[in-house]
Amino acid sequence: MRYGYFDDSRREYVITRPDTPLPWINYLGCEAYFGIISNTAGGYSFYRDPRLRRVSRYRYNNAPFDLGGRYIYLRDQDSGEFWSPTWQPTRRALQEYTCSHGLGYTIISSRYASIAAEVRYFIPLGENLEIWQLSLKNEHGHPARLSVFSCIEFCLWDAQDDATNFQRNFSTGQIEIEDGVIYHKTEYRERRNHFAYFACSEKPSGFDTQRDTFLGPYRGWEAPAAVERGGCFDSVANGWAPIGSHQIDLTLMPKETREIIFLLGYHENPAEQKFDPPGSQTINKKTVLPVIRKYLVKSNANAAFEQLKAHWDELLGTFQVQTPSADADRMVNIWNAYQCMVTFNMSRSASFYESGIGRGMGFRDSSQDLLGFVHMIPERARERILDLAATQLPSGGAFHQYQPLTKRGNNDIGSGFNDDPLWLILGTAAYIKESGDWSILEERLPYENEPGTETPLYEHLQRSLGYTLERLGPHGLPLIGRADWNDCLNLNCFSDTPGQSFQTTTNKDGKTAESVFIAGLFVMAARELAVIAQKGSLREEAERYLAAAARMETTVLQHGWDGNWFLRAYDDYGHKIGSAVCEEGKIFLEPQGFCIMAGIGLESGQALKSLAAVREHLATPHGIILQQPAYSRYYLNLGEISSYPPGYKENAGIFCHTNPWIMIAEAMAGHGDEAFDYYLRINPSSREAMSEIHRCEPYVYAQMIAGRDAATHGEAKNSWLTGTAAWNYAAITQWILGIRPEYDGLRIDPVIPAGWQGFKATRRFRGNTYVIEVKNPSSLNRGVKKLLVEGREIPGSLLPAATPESAVIHVEAVLQ
Ligand code: BGC
Ligand code: NOJ
Repeated sequence: MRYGYFDDSRREYVITRPDTPLPWINYLGCEAYFGIISNTAGGYSFYRDPRLRRVSRYRYNNAPFDLGGRYIYLRDQDSGEFWSPTWQPTRRALQEYTCSHGLGYTIISSRYASIAAEVRYFIPLGENLEIWQLSLKNEHGHPARLSVFSCIEFCLWDAQDDATNFQRNFSTGQIEIEDGVIYHKTEYRERRNHFAYFACSEKPSGFDTQRDTFLGPYRGWEAPAAVERGGCFDSVANGWAPIGSHQIDLTLMPKETREIIFLLGYHENPAEQKFDPPGSQTINKKTVLPVIRKYLVKSNANAAFEQLKAHWDELLGTFQVQTPSADADRMVNIWNAYQCMVTFNMSRSASFYESGIGRGMGFRDSSQDLLGFVHMIPERARERILDLAATQLPSGGAFHQYQPLTKRGNNDIGSGFNDDPLWLILGTAAYIKESGDWSILEERLPYENEPGTETPLYEHLQRSLGYTLERLGPHGLPLIGRADWNDCLNLNCFSDTPGQSFQTTTNKDGKTAESVFIAGLFVMAARELAVIAQKGSLREEAERYLAAAARMETTVLQHGWDGNWFLRAYDDYGHKIGSAVCEEGKIFLEPQGFCIMAGIGLESGQALKSLAAVREHLATPHGIILQQPAYSRYYLNLGEISSYPPGYKENAGIFCHTNPWIMIAEAMAGHGDEAFDYYLRINPSSREAMSEIHRCEPYVYAQMIAGRDAATHGEAKNSWLTGTAAWNYAAITQWILGIRPEYDGLRIDPVIPAGWQGFKATRRFRGNTYVIEVKNPSSLNRGVKKLLVEGREIPGSLLPAATPESAVIHVEAVLQ
């Protein structure tokens, strides 16, 4: 069952009924001011940091889930009827409803009582404000007397404190109202130089800023007292819960259309110019009024919207494909790339499943997010790599997270996730391969942000490798620490006390439990750094890394191979995990993917065996499960993984992030049909028709799909912020379509379904645009035998990087 449809020409997903199984959301903003918006206009906004600079309030664990948002109420002043053009919060049955989520904007249109309404929400580039453009049309044969009520509930900035510290917060709220603009200025009197504002293009006939006056005692958002009675109370919040609501009265003649613009924004004043007049307690508005005035003008708002569209056209224009699969095209050309941008911006901080008050920027998460994003804005990838490296510890280890506002490592979670530092090597390699910018390696960066400790980035990467080599266990495999990629495989935790964090509790000395996954990651990272060293003429060093990788490969084949698949780990007792000898958790996906991607066993045969085992034990129609059999009880020696009921999350869920590792491994083995088959199983677009089972948005990947052991097999959870986005993008574009940036150029090495006669792609790369046509006349999976550049044949499958000259270069690749 579908709840909408893809409109690919407009790059939108159009939702056709408001009661989607879960809130189907979108993101506004791509620079500093951001918002989450659901298909009913729910969600909230923040400036840079969703915890520390929350602009509007969101109430956690609400029922319904999607409550609190950018609400508008319409009231027919003659009949007294009122409704929400975005369905929520009144939930009055609308005669028509569509919500079009586009790239950086959402448009919700509806009709009720012969009033057609459309609200377009977006954030102009370069600004810290959001625009709500409301247009109303009277489709009656007679004039309509309407009142429009806007409503936003302000957050008292620190979202964590806002949700808990009521004894103080019920007394701090402050508001100013001037010329119809509502200014939220809680704590501006003391240590804040920022405020929020809510403005409107029409002169309001009333306003409310005290929530409980607007709503009335013991009433909710579905029927505010002000709306029900048809008039605001002009309340001024002093403490309690500041909101912004404008009342606009208008009469629309038959067929008349009117547009009203609302602006919700964030603004900072220089510390010494906070007040006007100086010495008063009144906000200095001189700095903000020009912005407000600008965007309340329709033509400026429209121009900003067109700029936003052009921005996305430009970004997505970096890579466009035309393949025989509509699901692949739509994801590569539009939604997967868009999701990569969102995950890059948000890391794992703010979604309907990530509260924005929990995690900062993950070290491994951000490093991986780069893989899907780097081709669109390499400069921002560069900045992210430098930020990450500056938080690295002198040991080469990494803070597991850092706070985006301060860019400093987060002490609460600390370090000791032993895979973390290795991802920085892969992220940096991806950046250099895309950009050809070797100078990044010379950037001098501190450790732990400590001035005076700066070394070139290259040394940070060296220390990353060294960190693993200095922490090898009894079998010579890397010690796992608190966890590796699988945050829930906590082999040193042994926690028996409710509420302890599985990630930070460590009851063991950490000298025994080893990870085969990190071993695979190490081999890959060491080989990558060897190439980097080699290119820098550090031949001996390159050889050392290659030797370390080779040693680790031997160790994996000796102690990390279970006979039919790669082992997952050794626990604190030195017992195997992910082995046929285990009672539960006999085979895990992650080491199969990573060891093969690192090249282990590709020539000696283990890789093929491992892939066959994945197919036999882990593959389901809904994707590949993380491990089998699921853990049926809690194991003290395994930690959080066994805390989940079977089939969910890390306990045998289909953890989508890892599926592309198998797609890539299959592609490396030359299996184009298998790789693409796995790709389609979790591709959101190809799951659209079963939205009642999948339940999450059909346009973006979710972190997890419930596994075979779950009661709700096939149900997706935790959409949007997941490493799935970047890895699927890499799998389809670089390994299946095979258009892969390398240090010296662009590799064209597709591994596709034999049934494909070919495909086309346009790829901007280092200042030129390659228009590529791949032909597959003999129905093969792989094997570019002929490569023509502007009609001239060149040897091999690598397009050597050309001088950047904005040239359009035609390429033909033939599989033979
Ligand atoms: C989740 C993991 C996540 C971790 C982060 C766990 O509860 O299952 O997916 O990585 O928390 O702290
Ligand atoms: C989500 C976390 O953000 C990521 O870092 C981790 O690798 C996966 N969960 C698996 O546990």
